This record gives sequence, C-alpha cells and structure tokens, in this order.
Amino acid sequence: MFILGIESSCDETSAAVVEMSDGKREIKANIVASQIEVHRLYGGVVPEIASRAHIETISKITYEALDTAGITLSDVGAIGVTAFPGLIGALLVGVNFAKSLAYANGIPLVAVNHVHGHVSAALLSEPSLAPPFLALVVSGGHTSIYKVNSYTDYEEIGSTRDDAVGESFDKVGRVIGLPYPGGAALDKLAYEGDKKAISLPSPAIVGDNLDFSFSGLKTAALNYINQAEQKGEEINKADLAASYTYAVTRAISKKISAAIEQTGMKTLVMAGGVAANSHLRKAVGDVCGAKKVRFVCPPLSLCGDNAAMIAAAAYHEFEKGNFADTSLNASATE
Ligand code: KG4
Ligand code: ZN
Repeated sequence: MFILGIESSCDETSAAVVEMSDGKREIKANIVASQIEVHRLYGGVVPEIASRAHIETISKITYEALDTAGITLSDVGAIGVTAFPGLIGALLVGVNFAKSLAYANGIPLVAVNHVHGHVSAALLSEPSLAPPFLALVVSGGHTSIYKVNSYTDYEEIGSTRDDAVGESFDKVGRVIGLPYPGGAALDKLAYEGDKKAISLPSPAIVGDNLDFSFSGLKTAALNYINQAEQKGEEINKADLAASYTYAVTRAISKKISAAIEQTGMKTLVMAGGVAANSHLRKAVGDVCGAKKVRFVCPPLSLCGDNAAMIAAAAYHEFEKGNFADTSLNASATE
C-alpha cells in the first residue's frame, strides 16, 4: 500500500510517499524543504518563523511528492503525520493539514512519534531489518537508547537527562563562529584537531545506567572558550572540535556497549540527524564490530528529518489498527 508521510516538527517541511507491504519497503518520493537558510540568520530555529514557513510550503510539497511517486490521493492507503514531539506551532501545521486531507478524502489517518520515525528510517535503508533490536536516536532534540521489541513497541532504556547531543554540538559550533547548525561543520573541523588537546568531562552518567548529561560537557567547553577570551588568548577551534567530538563518541560508545551487554541484542540501529556524524558512525560501528553485533545506520539523506521515515513508522501503526481521527492534537512532548 502507499503511505503518504507528512513531517513538520522542526525546521524541515517534508512530504513523502512510501510503498509498504509485508515484503516491500520502497521510497517513491521524499521531498524535504529545509528552512535552514532562514533560521541561520538568527543562529537557531525561531519557532514562529518555522510555523509560517511550514504553512507556505506544506501543500505544495505534498502534491509534489504525489506527482513524483506517480500517484494521486485516491491511491493513498493511509496518511501518517508527525504528531509529537517537536515545536508545537510547527507540529500543528502538519497535523491540521494531514487531518484535513484525510477527512476530505476519506483516507485513514495515523499519528506518528517523530523519534520512532527516525528509527524507522533504518527499515527503509535495510529491507531485512526486523525487531527486536537496539536503537540509538541522536538528534537535535533527542539522545535515547531503545529496546525495540516490535515495530510499535519502543522501550526506552537510556536517555539524556538534560540537553540533546545535537543541541550541544550546535551551541558549541555557534560560539566558535561556525554556521548554523554547527553539527556538520564541527564534524569536518574535528579532523584537523587533536582529540586529546583539551580535557573535557564525560557526558556518560557514572553508574549502572544508560543515561547521559550533555549540559556539563557543553558548559565546560563554553567556560574553556570564555576563559581564553578573558586572557586575550586565541583558542584552537579544531582542537576544541576534536576534543568535544571525542568526549561525545567515547561516552556514547561506552553506553552502547553496556546496552548491548545488558540486553543481549544482536542488531543496533543508529538514527537521527547526529547519526550523520562520521566520527560517531565509526566509533559505534567499531563497538558493534567488536561485539559481533549488526550495525545499521541509514544513509545521510534519511538521517535528518524527512517524511519517508514517518510514513514507514505509520505503516506499522496502521497494521496494528492505531488510527487517529479529527480530534488528533499535536504535543510538544512524548
Ligand atoms: O534529526 P534532526 O534533523 O532534527 C531533530 O529531530 O532534532 O537533527 C538535527 C541535528 C542538528 O543538531 C545538527 O547539527 C545535527 O543533527 N547534525 C550533525 C551532523 N549533521 C547534522 N551533528 C553532528 N555531525 C553531523 N555530521
Ligand atoms: Zn528529528
């Protein structure tokens, strides 16, 4: 069946068509309209501007996705929309648009958890992937480890207790003058620096848990920058990028290693915008290699926010009979 996916939780408006069945997972169209250039002027996402930009784009790209897929609304078996978590105003645009489209055309509507969507991107890139597996979601808003027991049963076994990893990358990137969002630029810059040059605290919370805290690491990096500024010293940005990235990859590798041991899972999915980080891909891939665990990480095009991943997650909710109706509301939190 064809699923129309709609995503508007943050700063990308996206519409996609995927064809899903028992043996088929195929992306027919995945249109992503990024607002990054607009928000770059402000050094971060401005929620009100994001909502308005979604309104301007959502209808156009939805019909573009249908056209690209070579189908019309009458071929769509279900509409899946990100309903939570995210920026509330941004989410409401997608939710209300999807509700109207579903109601007017008599198409079943499915509410999708954005984080489950990120994990479902791996179903599209790896057609043989099936639960149970472990999933690490690393994005601008999330850092969580899940035991995925079935396509719709996600058990959170670890998470950040404060900031998300992507948010912390972006903050450090902004302070050292990198273009927004700083994550991708820090990734590149880290290759030019010495990862042992600056000693930074680990974001892995000590003890028998699978949790993180990125605010201490972020503050330590900001203090390092401020102190150098006060002394009139120039910091080595590449060393900071390398040391910061090293602190992050080591902590995540440590907790992933513990999660594999605790759960005995034989497959790990890494997803979300920060899964595009080349250092993290290598580090987590190495942990999996050493533990003989299958490592699945979607291609870069499916790591960031996109509606194909939402449609893939929606298919499984649809299969379970989890439908939404016109009373569906968006929620900023999970
Ligand atoms: O999943 P995503 O598109 O949006 C959220 O759901 O949050 O993730 C965006 C995040 C941003 O923080 C961005 O800086 C980060 O992903 N990101 C990266 C890289 N590419 C994107 N972080 C580190 N290294 C990268 N290569
Ligand atoms: Zn996301």
